[in-house]
Amino acid sequence: MTRPTPAVRERVLSLPSPELPAYLYDLAALRTHTAEIRAALPGRVELYYAAKANPEPEILAALESCVDGYEVASGGELAHVAKAVPGRPLAFGGPGKTPDEVTAALELGVERFHVESEHELRVLAELARRVAPQRRVAVLPRVNLPVPDGSLAGSSLAMGGRPTPFGMDPARAEPVIRALADGTYPQLELRGVHAHLASGLGAAELLGVAGTVVGWATGLGVPVAEVNVGGGMSVDYTDPERRFDWAAYGEGLARLTEARPGLTLRIEPGRALTAYCGWYATEVLDVKHSHGEEFAVVRGGTHHLRTPATKGHDQPCSVLPVDTWPHRWPRPAAKSGPVTLAGQLCTPKDVLARRVPVPELRAGDRVVFSLAGAYAWNISHHDFLMHPGPGFHFLDDDTQAS
Ligand SMILES: Cc1ncc(COP(=O)(O)O)c(C=O)c1O
Repeated sequence: MTRPTPAVRERVLSLPSPELPAYLYDLAALRTHTAEIRAALPGRVELYYAAKANPEPEILAALESCVDGYEVASGGELAHVAKAVPGRPLAFGGPGKTPDEVTAALELGVERFHVESEHELRVLAELARRVAPQRRVAVLPRVNLPVPDGSLAGSSLAMGGRPTPFGMDPARAEPVIRALADGTYPQLELRGVHAHLASGLGAAELLGVAGTVVGWATGLGVPVAEVNVGGGMSVDYTDPERRFDWAAYGEGLARLTEARPGLTLRIEPGRALTAYCGWYATEVLDVKHSHGEEFAVVRGGTHHLRTPATKGHDQPCSVLPVDTWPHRWPRPAAKSGPVTLAGQLCTPKDVLARRVPVPELRAGDRVVFSLAGAYAWNISHHDFLMHPGPGFHFLDDDTQAS
């Protein structure tokens, strides 16, 4: 799923130039990928999708049969996901929930609240009394646990294991958990504990984190039915074929659940589910030689696909050569690589991939960037410079539609 799938390749080559750039998603490939992940997980592990990675309604719907629910992290995501996949279980997380967002979540009847602070717990308790007086509200306090030195070192985005605004310090989380367990908040039910400490970790590191969280949660001496150990499974942009080891992760989680009958684990990956099913396709507009290096300027750029600029990597890509040249003017070309692929923005930061080793690259050739299905379009600064937006194509086995 790193090089464009046949369906994506065919669509990219059939699009007229003005319809590029475009995002293309292979929904059949997404379902197959997620079903394989599901199959690697033991029975007592629930799989939620962190909608922030890519909330396109078609993506949410394609995942419906393979995931147990969705994690949302704002009132906007809450309303959007509830509309896209009505009736599916939702877990509402994220720091700084406003009273209006909490009210909306209570009205919608979300299945789980991930509570980020003592203040948030008190707000939730009072609003639950007013908005949903008949209902028990299931709560998982989010804890920011210390982890053994260096165990989050591989993370590109650590949200815990050190001072951060995410979740609660364990010294604060413990009294919150005890208060929930002893009935201080009669309407709130302590279901368990939530912890998402870092993103971009391998299976061994994430299992270490999961073991720490489960050990802490089950050692508190209060009934804990669930532990959500978060997302954060790595996607390697420098070596796209190197995948997160779901088999090893599933086996490790099985050991954790086998040791604790009655405990349900939950994970909520985002990037590792959808990154591989999306491609950003464009065409080369110009090719130039500058101070000894070759540059290609492509339609679009980091205002559509910000991921390489944010994470500081080169977005993996493939060239689809186009042999026809319909213009009367000469065709610019780099006769040998490597070529740096830049976008149309007036900033040196608008680079999608540096020194790509291509044998030849010509204006009019198409370039397809892979691993563009997560934290891509939705994290990009679309309006900068007012270039047109990309097209969107959701390809499926049955329909090859839209
Ligand atoms: C609370 C929480 N859960 C899950 C995720 C998903 O992480 P990833 O996309 O790395 O799997 C995030 C990402 O920021 C998060 O903050």
